[in-house]
Amino acid sequence: MEFFLDTANVDEIRALIPTGLVDGVTTNPSLIAKSGRDMVENISEICALTNGPVSAEVTAMDAQGMIKEGEFLRTIAPNICIKVPLTMDGLRATYELTGNGHPVNVTLCFSANQALLAAKAGATYISPFIGRIDDTGADGMELISEIRAIYDNFPELNTKILAASIRTVLHVKDSALMGADVATIPANILSALAKHPLTDKGLAAFMADWESTGQSILPQ
Ligand code: E4P
Repeated sequence: MEFFLDTANVDEIRALIPTGLVDGVTTNPSLIAKSGRDMVENISEICALTNGPVSAEVTAMDAQGMIKEGEFLRTIAPNICIKVPLTMDGLRATYELTGNGHPVNVTLCFSANQALLAAKAGATYISPFIGRIDDTGADGMELISEIRAIYDNFPELNTKILAASIRTVLHVKDSALMGADVATIPANILSALAKHPLTDKGLAAFMADWESTGQSILPQ
């Protein structure tokens, strides 16, 4: 399973890249707004930090506009993945862009049928928004499970499931259990995955016992 960082904050990305856990990055217009930076500058800096795909979202609402913006975004760096919304125009743009060899992440997916359409249009990734579905009182994870089952029924569909809108460590575990190919995770959640109170407690006990031996591993 791949992990993408869900952020446009270069400091967060720079801090986590050396862990080897980051396979790519996703951004969206809200994350760009939160960064307070020029989009092209910000995205090109992110692309230089990782060899993995960096999703950059179009903002045109019509297919031709999305295609133009997508082609422009792809000139920023070779690892750009064009992000388009799941609308009929977005699907038309996906069909053309992927047909011309560009990777496309179809975003704002809230139903299995939408995911089926995105795959038929040739999407590289489909991004079901787990957290936002949970917010409505429904079960976001059920959507991941449905999409997995549908894609597995039709091996000719090559779209990867990219679990998005992840808010908790449980979302990550459940996405893995449901067979999502990728999870895009906020930096604080990725760090939280490594935490366990029994790890901290056990480590404190080991360190106290080790100190009592007066030894050091490296020759003094
Ligand atoms: C990533 O591709 C999505 O844009 C992001 O995960 C949305 O997350 P949110 O629902 O927390 O805004």
